[in-house]
Amino acid sequence: MKATAIAPSNIAFIKYWGKKEEVLRLPENGSVSMCLSNLLTTTTVEFSSDYKGDLVEIGGYKGDMGNKGDMGRIRIIEHLDRIRKMAGINLKAKVVTKNNFPTGTGLSSSASGFAALTLAGAKAAGLNLSEKELSILARQGSGSACRSIPDGFVEWLDGNTSETSYGVSIFPPEHWEICDVVAVVSREKKEISSTEGQKLTGTSPFFKTRILNIKNKILKIKEYIKYKKFTEFGEMTEAEALEMHAIMLTSQPSLIYLMPNSILLMKLVKKWRSEGLECYFTVNTGQDIHIIVEKKNESALCERLRSVEEVKEIIVNEAGKGTRIIDKHLF
Ligand code: PMV
Repeated sequence: MKATAIAPSNIAFIKYWGKKEEVLRLPENGSVSMCLSNLLTTTTVEFSSDYKGDLVEIGGYKGDMGNKGDMGRIRIIEHLDRIRKMAGINLKAKVVTKNNFPTGTGLSSSASGFAALTLAGAKAAGLNLSEKELSILARQGSGSACRSIPDGFVEWLDGNTSETSYGVSIFPPEHWEICDVVAVVSREKKEISSTEGQKLTGTSPFFKTRILNIKNKILKIKEYIKYKKFTEFGEMTEAEALEMHAIMLTSQPSLIYLMPNSILLMKLVKKWRSEGLECYFTVNTGQDIHIIVEKKNESALCERLRSVEEVKEIIVNEAGKGTRIIDKHLF
């Protein structure tokens, strides 16, 4: 059977950085994110006795995955194996997947990619999984993918077992009109994947302090989202991104994901804020900058971004739906 799913990437306000269990991808801490309405992966999966081996085509934006392509393929096949095991089948599959945005630059294509693969693969294998089961399965492909399954604003619950570590929607997309305006500053792919980078978290002398404070931060950010306290929310989101990068910078060996143009944008955000345009940045493992702004200020922000020569592309997102099945197959 053949099935196609579309999945959003997500942006974490409180980040996942570090695992307490590698194979199951259990994180050191919970995290809170928002599904992104315009950063999307579409994936079609078909299991059939016609296929003698697994066929994986990764395409879409600019048509390639660069040197990360082979690693991407291996992880996709490992995920198909998880699905085959759950469904009790041993048929080979064809997978075609495409993103509508640049990959490997910090826009979390693994989150949307593994969420779409999970739903399309499960459906094509004849499984009828609940949202919780889909999130648990997606997490094993790529941690942050578990937060792309439910709609809107999502918390990844900090469980100690596979069954208790999954994403739940805490508010629907329409709860709060905020935007994540992505400024693409370079299409160069990162040198170290987040899977590799995360293995170093424990080597930072600041990691213990981060973990001590994180539960309280999660409680607070959920309050800020609930009561739409944009200033407190933005300040915490920006400080959290800097804290995660402080852990990266002080890991051994150090991890430097930011590029000169990322820093330029971070400074511009602070300048624009001091001039009265309330916006805050956050950034993942890559150079592209996410700028959080209330919907009413989105066009003013985009106008300023358009005047910055270093910004190659602007992608405006609102809080979006989670992963869903669509009828239009890619093959
Ligand atoms: O899901 P992974 O292994 O690609 O980890 C990504 C983690 C960050 O994007 C850096 C932070 C987050 O919580 O999304």
